[in-house]
Amino acid sequence: MSQHDDKRRRLLGRLSRQFAYTAPVLALVAGGAALQATAGNTSTEAGFAPVSEAALLLASSNAVAEGEAEGEAEAGSSAEVRRPDGYTPDYSETDENPQELLARGEELYYDTSLSTNGLSCASCHGSDGDDVGYKATFEQPFPHQVAMASSQFGMPEVHADEMVQVCMVAPMAAEPLEWGGEKLTSLAAYMVEVQKRFAGEPHDL
Ligand code: HEC
Repeated sequence: MSQHDDKRRRLLGRLSRQFAYTAPVLALVAGGAALQATAGNTSTEAGFAPVSEAALLLASSNAVAEGEAEGEAEAGSSAEVRRPDGYTPDYSETDENPQELLARGEELYYDTSLSTNGLSCASCHGSDGDDVGYKATFEQPFPHQVAMASSQFGMPEVHADEMVQVCMVAPMAAEPLEWGGEKLTSLAAYMVEVQKRFAGEPHDL
């Protein structure tokens, strides 16, 4: 037990030194674990702890591997999270999006199978409209600056679909979603509405 705790503490220490943004992430992951534990469901209780451990390990090994390979502050390649040349998305950041798209986006937001570490978007960003884990910059309409995208991927500002890809690749430790596919399109459309809700504006959620 104490050996396990030690390992975890070292991991947490290394992670928070490497990325300023991991501090809130780790707090959120830990908060998630606590929530799961109080839910009193023995199967999730048993299942969640190893999962968040795995998330930490993955994040840590990525950070180390990429930091060593590139020898610079940027941890990821922006090529896989940036809109491809000539790309036109199937959702709008300025007009309304169809309700089916938003409903599908919401469903995916809770889907742990999108990640390789047992997390869903809602594990970090909250459920039922909590909208946690976002910084004040999220109050501006897309595209806008996001600290994690600029520090890790060198992107001065991001569209909603690019930010979904950043979170897929970094905190979700997964492959980016297919550009123009229904998953990315619905999640991005959903995030546009979450952005409005976060900013206290009228929204369709
Ligand atoms: C392990 C925690 C974690 C998970 C899981 C996660 N995110 Fe994030 N997300 C963050 C952090 C940290 C930020 C960065 C906030 C910043 O730098 O401003 C962020 C930022 C964002 C933003 C940008 C907000 C803005 O300011 O524009 C969006 C959009 C977003 N996440 C969507 C998602 C989606 C969609 C998923 C699931 C596919 C997801 N996130 C999964 C931690 C997470």
